[in-house]
Amino acid sequence: MLGNRTFTMVKPEAVANSNTGAILAKIEEAGFRIVAMKKLHLSEERAGKFYAVHSERPFFGELVEYMSSGPIVAVILEKEDAVADFRTLIGATDPSQAEEGTIRKLFAESKAKNAVHGSDSDENAAIESSFFFADLEQF
Ligand code: RTP
Ligand code: MG
Repeated sequence: MLGNRTFTMVKPEAVANSNTGAILAKIEEAGFRIVAMKKLHLSEERAGKFYAVHSERPFFGELVEYMSSGPIVAVILEKEDAVADFRTLIGATDPSQAEEGTIRKLFAESKAKNAVHGSDSDENAAIESSFFFADLEQF
């Protein structure tokens, strides 16, 4: 399975703006299969744990506040070369730098409120998937 799965979240502003369905449609059109999915509201503590790797960065406080500001949709995806192909599909962190047609170009509001998360390695895809889906072996 390694190399064939990634993890994504539809972030709070995209969920609040009713873009979840349009974003998932783009993801499926690009050939990703939804393996598991749930909508939930992260506490500040859980959001901080998820992004703990960024805890020393100047934007960490803002990131935790944003990611706990409303519900998110957590999704495990499957496709060949899932991690790399999904990062290409979502585009650069800052939507002003993102390629035309990418999910962040289409839906992100700003570098901070950038519509979706995408795992950056196979290892992190597995760690992040188990953060949300304790019963991972079912999927
Ligand atoms: P993600 O982890 O959410 O897929 O995003 P990414 O790899 O493209 O970017 P990363 O460097 O991992 O940053 C994580 C998230 O922190 C917020 N951020 N804000 N205000 C800022 O300068 C800034 N920089 C990053 C974004 O929400 C980014 O996705
Ligand atoms: Mg990242």
